[in-house]
Amino acid sequence: MERKNIVVPQEALDEQMEYCRRVRSFIAPGENPLAFVDTYGCQQNEADSEQIRGLLQEMGYDFTEDESEADVIVINTCAVREHAEMRVLGNVGALTHTKKKKPDQVICLCGCAMQEPHMAEKIRRSFRHVDLVFGPHVLWKFPQFLFEVLTRKKRVFSTDPCDGNIVEGLPVVRQGKLKAWVSIMYGCNNFCSYCIVPYVRGRERSRDPQRILDEVRQLVEEGYKDITLLGQNVNSYGKDLGLNMDFADLLKACNDIPGEFLLRFMTSHPKDATQKLFETMASCEKVAASLHLPVQAGNDRILKVMNRHYTRAEYLDQIRRLRELIPDIVLTSDIIVGFPGETTEEFEDTLSLIEEVGYDSLFTFIYSRREGTPAAKMPDVLTKEEISANFQRLVARQNEISAQKHAAYVGKIVRVLVDGTADDPEFPLTARTDGGRLVHLKGDEQLIGGFYPCKITHASNWTLFGEIAAEKEVH
Ligand code: SAH
Ligand code: SF4
Ligand code: F3S
Repeated sequence: MERKNIVVPQEALDEQMEYCRRVRSFIAPGENPLAFVDTYGCQQNEADSEQIRGLLQEMGYDFTEDESEADVIVINTCAVREHAEMRVLGNVGALTHTKKKKPDQVICLCGCAMQEPHMAEKIRRSFRHVDLVFGPHVLWKFPQFLFEVLTRKKRVFSTDPCDGNIVEGLPVVRQGKLKAWVSIMYGCNNFCSYCIVPYVRGRERSRDPQRILDEVRQLVEEGYKDITLLGQNVNSYGKDLGLNMDFADLLKACNDIPGEFLLRFMTSHPKDATQKLFETMASCEKVAASLHLPVQAGNDRILKVMNRHYTRAEYLDQIRRLRELIPDIVLTSDIIVGFPGETTEEFEDTLSLIEEVGYDSLFTFIYSRREGTPAAKMPDVLTKEEISANFQRLVARQNEISAQKHAAYVGKIVRVLVDGTADDPEFPLTARTDGGRLVHLKGDEQLIGGFYPCKITHASNWTLFGEIAAEKEVH
């Protein structure tokens, strides 16, 4: 399939770098301007915030965690549920106080919620202390916008609708030294009937594989050990490129990069998760034995109105085939409770599905009405209280399942990546299993950054506890 040229041209990026220099030139010698970046939502937003930090650094800013001392505040918002939007509005409202004390403070809002016309309008009318609002499609123009705010002393709004573009080569300031996000594609074409993401993130578009491989190679050279390939639906990677390269091929090519590291990816849509992908996961030694495969619901009628394009039986068959290839695979999922029209009887099918699969853990959400999506017009049949009761049952049952799964680790030796420290004198280190389970570990800080075999000594619902089984790093 031919695609329009959607990669932002180098000259346009050079222009933004010029704006960075101009903003930097405002800084007097000895001045040390500070920026505070706050991120809501998914890993995609985390990855975007790393580019925002990259641009801020290019403009001469250092970073602070204290919004009251920041010269520039950037809040990267999420629109996926009402709760996320409300939290943002609450926090932005509170910033009137910091701005009163520091009148030159520049307050910027960006990200998915700003791409929703009603949210941008609300900010324009009711949050007059916000100086700059821009959507995810124009993140790369942040230096120009900030320059305009600083020089013209007037508010800047850039939230026009857009199908999306691809920007290569923006500077990034990554949050960690071991874990890194690599976006491989942007946007979503699936239009699940409840979901706002396709409206705010535009159409699916894949990055050039060579660019992705170069980025992964560089990360490995810099010492990153835990690399996650990101997209709203990574399984449709490459469909727009016409290169005869699908996601499984990309994963294999990343796996072939020399070095010791772990590869993860998210999110996979079940409708596009192929046997080829499962076989590639099984044969690639650097790909973690874990899969986040959101099912959303266990009832076929609900799956159909959700526009998910698979049935319960097809999903369960995928899990069965996956476990045939990778018996100890760690499985996680997303579930929505209270989709419009879902009866308690239909919800029981979700309960029986999680029972049948036995996920290691779940991300559970109560349905949130999103204006402009098809589901927003569908009537409810259950009351809030009934939905909440169903939700509690789901969470309680999954907690039991997770506890059983965790208990089964006790006595086993698993590979972990030691990634940080914990506030626990007996278990001062944190680590993750290849499947992403959190382990609190005995040992000293020198182990951070290495893969080790770890003996799990005991477990709680959320955490495993263990000790290194052999001092030598495993390869
Ligand atoms: N593209 C990914 C994730 C998108 S958002 C995927 O398809 O899996 C992450 C999760 O938020 C979704 O999987 C879904 O479970 C949940 N979600 C999305 N829209 C929602 C809504 N309107 N109400 C409640 N949960 C929602
Ligand atoms: Fe939303 Fe569905 Fe796209 Fe995921 S696949 S982002 S749930 S529309
Ligand atoms: Fe939220 Fe946007 Fe991610 S809506 S979940 S931050 S893609």
